[in-house]
Amino acid sequence: MIKFILNENEISYSGHPGLAMLDFIRYHKNLTGTKIGCREGDCGACTVLVGEIRSGELIYRSMTSCLLPIGNVNAKHIVTIEGINMSDLNPIQQAMSDESATQCGFCTPGFVMSLAGFCLQKNIVDFKKEALASVDGNICRCTGYKSIERATVKIAELCSKRGQEDPTKFVASQKILPEYFEGIQSRLIAIKNPVEASASTINPKYIVAGGTDLYVQKHDELPHANLKFVINEIDSNAIHLNGNIVTIGCTCTVTDLVESEIIRTHFLDFEKYYRLISSTPIRNMATIAGNIVNASPIGDFTAFFLALNADITLVNKNVNRVVKLKDFFLGYKKLDKLPEEILSTISFNLPSKNSKFNFEKVCKRTNLDIASVNTAIAVEIVDEKIISCHLSAGGVGPTPLYLTKSAEFLIGKSIEVDTIQKLLEIIQTEIAPISDARGTDIYKRGLLNHLVKGHFIVWYPELISSSFISM
Ligand code: FES
Ligand code: FES
Repeated sequence: MIKFILNENEISYSGHPGLAMLDFIRYHKNLTGTKIGCREGDCGACTVLVGEIRSGELIYRSMTSCLLPIGNVNAKHIVTIEGINMSDLNPIQQAMSDESATQCGFCTPGFVMSLAGFCLQKNIVDFKKEALASVDGNICRCTGYKSIERATVKIAELCSKRGQEDPTKFVASQKILPEYFEGIQSRLIAIKNPVEASASTINPKYIVAGGTDLYVQKHDELPHANLKFVINEIDSNAIHLNGNIVTIGCTCTVTDLVESEIIRTHFLDFEKYYRLISSTPIRNMATIAGNIVNASPIGDFTAFFLALNADITLVNKNVNRVVKLKDFFLGYKKLDKLPEEILSTISFNLPSKNSKFNFEKVCKRTNLDIASVNTAIAVEIVDEKIISCHLSAGGVGPTPLYLTKSAEFLIGKSIEVDTIQKLLEIIQTEIAPISDARGTDIYKRGLLNHLVKGHFIVWYPELISSSFISM
């Protein structure tokens, strides 16, 4: 039995946990304000808010309900567009109306819900920037974005007045969201309903974490398949620091990583990296472990963690096996993993104070899109010489690539134009891109060289003024 609150109403659900929340909302509850667009997490028409209690705090995040299995919402608060209606338009709806930010209206509930998620977001420094970022997963086909942007800025200005006030209290006092939100925390505590995450999972066909890729690929099959849900495993979303080793749990989402003090402290440019990766609602759902096990040759976090020379731990009935991430990928979508093994943690050593790290990605569309090519690098430099290096590249071979020869070449070298030139030549011998929808093989070869040059330009901007830039 899965229990949750849908808008104001408590729901006890005993049907198949693989049903997408979008279908439950529309077809079981007739709440048709939530729209179906792409069913791939791309358009944002189906956006809902998901509230849950973490460390005693109620937090809300926007998610695309087309990719959200009902098995992942136990003891959570699901909010649809109907759940934020009041007798008058709330300030978000009013701003959209005042700024003529809606025409056919198909996308509008999604935009409003994403902005509602922004209004509930904690720890905001730049309200305008975050408000605009909150709708990065929403597409409008007919209005044009300037009017939506104006409405968004109005909401940012309103929320910036809250100061230190708790967002949940502020939205209630400003009538941004209905009063019933104030009672949700105690109601969620009351229905706290630990489900046996492993129940009904003998020989599961699929293991579901965030579901953001699985529900794109298999959305017809999942509401009937034998599934194992890992999202309910206790503490599995945690990020721990033990000595110098960071350990990331299997259900840690991209947003969990983004909000981690450990990550923010040691990767000062992390915001620049994560803004290149998917969109807010997808980052709120997608797990890092899923990105790795997906085995896509262009997995962004796979490239990221390859450059950190990460280890992964695979668990099967309490038996743990540790594998180097760089040895995990055996061929296209082929992993060193038994079907019954679950990736339980990702761990890596924090970069030392002498280290430099960078991640680069190019894709056709800034938000949401998968990479054409991506790459990450970590080097440790002592006395102007590189003493260790890990370099990854995605989209240029059948698996995410750890560029062994190229990384080894840099050991003992100082960073100079000639060295980088030679490095680029070696990189070209380690990759085997193919031509596909994201570009020709020749384009990807050139792109990777440019992105690798980008690593060094980020660290040493003065290289731009050298002949390096035209290499
Ligand atoms: Fe397009 Fe869900 S229907 S994101
Ligand atoms: Fe028509 Fe946005 S108002 S798609």
